[in-house]
Formats: sequence, structure tokens, C-alpha cells
Amino acid sequence: MSLAFGFSGCNSARAAAADANTWPAHALPPALEAGEIHLWTIQTDLPARLRTSLAGFLDRDELRRARRLVAASASARFVAAHGALRLLLGAYMGAAPDALRLRATGAGKPYLEDARLRFSLSHSAALALVAISEGAELGVDLERRRTVPDAVALATRYFAPDEARSLAALPANEQSDAFLRYWTSKEAVMKLTGEGFARPLDSIRVTVEGNAPPRLLEVTGVPGAAREWSLHALEPAAGYLAALVAAAGSSHVRCFTLGLEGLLGASRAAADRARAGAR
Ligand SMILES: CC(C)(COP(=O)(O)OP(=O)(O)OC[C@H]1O[C@@H](n2cnc3c(N)ncnc32)[C@H](O)[C@@H]1OP(=O)(O)O)[C@@H](O)C(=O)NCCC(=O)NCCS
Repeated sequence: MSLAFGFSGCNSARAAAADANTWPAHALPPALEAGEIHLWTIQTDLPARLRTSLAGFLDRDELRRARRLVAASASARFVAAHGALRLLLGAYMGAAPDALRLRATGAGKPYLEDARLRFSLSHSAALALVAISEGAELGVDLERRRTVPDAVALATRYFAPDEARSLAALPANEQSDAFLRYWTSKEAVMKLTGEGFARPLDSIRVTVEGNAPPRLLEVTGVPGAAREWSLHALEPAAGYLAALVAAAGSSHVRCFTLGLEGLLGASRAAADRARAGAR
């Protein structure tokens, strides 16, 4: 049975007018209770001094991936997103950000070795979104809100036929948002399962109807998904749309904007205390 979900701090950007930081700013993560999912937005266009601090947390593989990105802005945002992810996960675990053993499955799904914490990361333009839970699998996807000129053609080619028909029946000025709602929902499912784009987009069926919350109808090959997983549409900041999919066992979502400088300061203070204790 689908669980009744509660939300804290996850007001939509549209409801809060043009304020870019609609989720409450936090530096230190609050305790993660059983059944909770914490969602964090992270600004990824950062001053060089902050980016340099975050780059210091990355492992060799992450630094190599950052260097491979040809566009300097993409590389800088990658460093910001991955450094801030380490900082956050470290704060939840009481561990130094550079000591975390982050690994990836063969299909690319990142995970923490030897930890119950689960997370999912997405980035788009100047924002990243991280979802964190205590043991429940999840997936998030974030997209910059934009006009998708070929929305109906793309849906006809890649989505399930009933989804493409529903999209085509919408007024033209609603098709881009609806397309991005379908897209983020499907990608969030692909991230939960860890399959990524190896799973065809039309093997995940969802409904997107006006302002009603999207619903998960079917994930081919996963019989309990529509009943047990929950799908949520979010507007984490002005100009962005996102989706969260959570497996059974999650019942409450809390939303935050990361106060990066505060968390960096707290992390440095913890490292200083650890060094002083070791002397
Ligand atoms: C996951 C995926 C669907 C999302 O891509 P996207 O919308 O372009 O990008 P997003 O920013 O929303 O998400 C990317 C993040 O998803 C995560 N991710 C990547 N592969 C994932 C997977 N299979 N399952 C769950 N999460 C995954 C990573 O944290 C990644 O961030 P990073 O690239 O900075 O490390 C797509 O990247 C994919 O299919 N990746 C698999 C690639 C693959 O097959 N790799 C084989 C091994 S090389």
C-alpha cells in the first residue's frame, strides 16, 4: 500500500513567487529519523575559494572526472556538487568528507561503502539536488525549467504511447512543463533502481495531469513498484523542476537549502578538534 507522505519545508518555488531559495537554509544537517528523506539544494556556481576547499575533499577518480569535462563551467559545477555531497554525507555520518569511501556500481549508481545511508544526486545548470535516507532506496532528478520545442516528438519516440497521447492533448504552452515532469519522474525511477538509461523510458509509466501530483503506474519487471514506491514532483528553486522516487519505508520528506559556508566551517572545526585530540 502506498504510504501517506508528509513534507516539511518543501514549498514550491511557484507558490513562493520569485524567491530563488524557497527551502529553509541549513548548515548542519538535522538528525535523520527512520522513514525520513532529507532533500538538499546546493548552489554550484561558487566563488573560487569555496570551490578550492571543496576540491580538496575529492578522491582521485572524482578529480579525474572533473578534469575530463571540457567546459570550465561544467568542471567547476561538478567539483562543487561532489565536494558539497561529500561534506553533507560526512556531516550525517560524523566522518571527514575526504575519508568517505564513495563507490559506483557497474551501471554508475554511486553508493557509500559500509554505510546504511542511501543517497541520490542530480545536477542541472547552477543547482544540484541531493536526497538522503537511512536505508531506503531513492532516486532524484532535477531539470532546469525550459521550453522543450520538440516535446511531443520526443514523447512519441521514447515515452509509452498513452503518455505521448496525453502530452499531445495538452495546450502547447503546458507541454514543456509536462514533458519535464514525465522526464524527471522516469529518471528518478532509473536512479532508484540503479539501471540508469539502460532501462527504456517507456518501461516506466506515469501520469502527469495538470496540477495533480504525478502517479507511478508501472515499472516493467518490478511488480510492487506502483503500489509501494512513492513519486513526488518538486520545485526546489525558481526555474527548476524535480522528482523524487522513494521505496517503501519512507514517509516524510524534509527540504533544505545548503548553507555551504556554515557547513564548511563546522567541518573544519571538527577536523581541528580531531587533530588536537590526537596530539
Ligand atoms: C543516471 C542517469 C540516468 C542520469 O543522468 P543525467 O540526467 O544526465 O544527470 P543527473 O545530474 O540527473 O544525474 C547524474 C548523477 O546520477 C548518479 N548516477 C549515475 N548513474 C547512476 C545510476 N545508474 N543509478 C543511479 N544514479 C546514477 C550520479 O550521482 C551522477 O552524478 P555524476 O555524474 O556527477 O557522478 C544517466 O547518467 C545514466 O544512465 N547513467 C548511467 C551511465 C552508464 O551506463 N554508465 C556505465 C558505466 S561507465
